[in-house]
Amino acid sequence: MRIVLLGPPGAGKGTQSDRLAERYGMEHISTGDIFRRNVAEGTKLGSLAKSYMDAGELVPDDVVVGMVLATLEDIRDGFELDGFPRNIPQAESLDGGLAVAGRPLHAALALMLDDEMAVKRIAGRRTCANCQTPYNVEFDPPKVPGVCDRCGGPLEQRPDDAEDVVRRRLEVYNESTAPLLKYYSERGLLREVDATGTEDEVFDRSVAALTDLPDD
Ligand code: AP5
Repeated sequence: MRIVLLGPPGAGKGTQSDRLAERYGMEHISTGDIFRRNVAEGTKLGSLAKSYMDAGELVPDDVVVGMVLATLEDIRDGFELDGFPRNIPQAESLDGGLAVAGRPLHAALALMLDDEMAVKRIAGRRTCANCQTPYNVEFDPPKVPGVCDRCGGPLEQRPDDAEDVVRRRLEVYNESTAPLLKYYSERGLLREVDATGTEDEVFDRSVAALTDLPDD
């Protein structure tokens, strides 16, 4: 299965991607995770991406598109792209790259959530600085506040999860990314899923939305 995941910040793209990757045996590619890894490793890509991420802006298309298409070249089986594409030019570049490879997309899964719930979820998000296990202080808290259940490491907040930056990320989503709903709908690929409710409920709805697609 070859899919893209759409949805505003906080919709649960990362959360559901992990579970869908396990369910369908797909490779999970998150552009946000790739950038955060590069920031942590202090690479040139990381220092370029950091200024955009910290401001809640998109990293320039020429940087992102080449990085994603190069990553896809190494993947022979199914994949899900989490956080890419983020605007129409990125979607067109992806379609072009996949057409050349003869591997078109099967679906665009859109997790639909309103802005206020998105802000609430993101405000509670924490990640272990050591092992990257995710938590949410409101919806999925650790046993001891601020401490990772798995490794005892300290829990951190993402720099771009500060409320003013989240508000800007939502604006960017509504301006640049939301038009992709129409783009994929016109191509018969859009599968919209209500992203409210528990993680299990959203997962079940996502699986139901993908049932008639190939799983290899
Ligand atoms: P990225 O990392 O992709 O961030 P995002 O799209 O803003 O998404 P988030 O990671 O904030 O949210 P999510 O939908 O994955 O939700 P999650 O599962 O974590 O991108 C970061 C930045 O990188 C961008 O701003 C940009 O600068 C750059 N970038 C990335 N891709 C780019 C591209 N293609 N082009 C240009 N720039 C790019 O869940 C959020 C929280 O809610 C968690 O705490 C979770 O536990 C909780 N939660 C999830 N589901 C539920 C539920 N059902 N109930 C209760 N809580 C829940």
